[in-house]
Amino acid sequence: MHHFEYRDGVLFAEEVSVTKLTENYGTPLYIYSAATFRRHFKAFDSAFDGLDHLTCFSVKANSNLSVLRMLAEEGAGMDIVSGGELYRALKAGVAPEKIVYSGVGKRESEIRDALSAGILMFNVESVAELIKIDEVAGLKGVKAQVSFRINPDVDPQTHPYISTGMAKNKFGLDIENSFKAYEMAAKLDNIEPVGMDCHIGSQLTSIEPFLEALDKLLDFYEKLKGIGIKIKYLDLGGGLGIPYDEEQPPHPTEFGQALSAKLKGLPLKVILEPGRVIAGNAGIMVTKVLYTKSNPTKNFLIVDAAMNDLVRPSLYGSYHRIGEVEEHGRAPMVYDVVGPICESGDFLARDRELPGIKQGERLVLYSAGAYGFTMSSNYNTRPRACELIVDDDKVIVARKRETYEDIVANEL
Ligand code: LLP
Repeated sequence: MHHFEYRDGVLFAEEVSVTKLTENYGTPLYIYSAATFRRHFKAFDSAFDGLDHLTCFSVKANSNLSVLRMLAEEGAGMDIVSGGELYRALKAGVAPEKIVYSGVGKRESEIRDALSAGILMFNVESVAELIKIDEVAGLKGVKAQVSFRINPDVDPQTHPYISTGMAKNKFGLDIENSFKAYEMAAKLDNIEPVGMDCHIGSQLTSIEPFLEALDKLLDFYEKLKGIGIKIKYLDLGGGLGIPYDEEQPPHPTEFGQALSAKLKGLPLKVILEPGRVIAGNAGIMVTKVLYTKSNPTKNFLIVDAAMNDLVRPSLYGSYHRIGEVEEHGRAPMVYDVVGPICESGDFLARDRELPGIKQGERLVLYSAGAYGFTMSSNYNTRPRACELIVDDDKVIVARKRETYEDIVANEL
């Protein structure tokens, strides 16, 4: 459910006409719905109400400060993967004890900053990283709370680029090495092993892989207890998918119930790291058709957004539903929707049936709130888009459109 809907043939974001927004703020334009963000967060978080839990929004999905602030006000913690994301989370007012730090390659300075901030825990992905954290914590005279990211070797049945919990992936430690890592951690002076962690992939559309991974983790939990290591936190990562097209991922309530059934009664605080399921359908991207052209095989809509603005179609072959900002009811045509960038891989949709579209009209790409703006770049020296948050009838400029000066600001 989201709050983008047509009223008399014109798309609205909550109480505001998207046509008006494009007139005032230009295109390409990201528009987020505050009510949708809040609703998605509540739906997900309340699905785990029966358990002691903390929902940490995965900052990489949508890192805008205003978005993070809005979620923090709803009670969200944050899952971060870099010093930059730590900086954003703290700046947005997130309590450090609600921050978990994941990622395979944390640098020394990043570890130091996270220790200074007093985050809840590091999700450690290698023994070498454990040693580094112990060393940095020792120099600071603090004890670092850690969990190990366990790679349970489960196939999440999603795109290979976003599968993370299989033996061939770079993430985490396999079960056997995890065991050794906990034994080692328990002996280190500046480390306290407090949790277990796992994240098997993103855009999962069935519950089974999550349950399979959880079973392996719970077995492992028993083994740890056997050697006297009692952990307090079980971090199950993110990964719940959303409908972009015809997918039918489980509803968060169903997801929460299925996991809770296995976790009830255990003396563990459960941590969840959802990104896409909160942000994905809470945002749209709007673009203007600059030109149309046809050749004997194709009809092209050349739009002012490109792969630098929304890379998912080019990178993963992802599908984003496309519609008109103002419906004209013309007969359908089949189009390639392409951007101005000098690469054939620069497309937003291929062979897409849309109502007939004319030059100057605006299109909306749905499900752009997660991994949309955060993956955008300045390729072809294109300024990154403006981000707006619509909250009922209020419009907040969450990020101004970049200027050419912004782009070259750090260059000699
Ligand atoms: N936790 C960890 C450790 C992660 O690596 C991720 C995502 C999440 C949580 C959040 O996963 P989510 O709930 O959003 O599925 N750029 C790709 C997605 C990459 C996901 C990376 N990790 C895309 O556009 O589909």
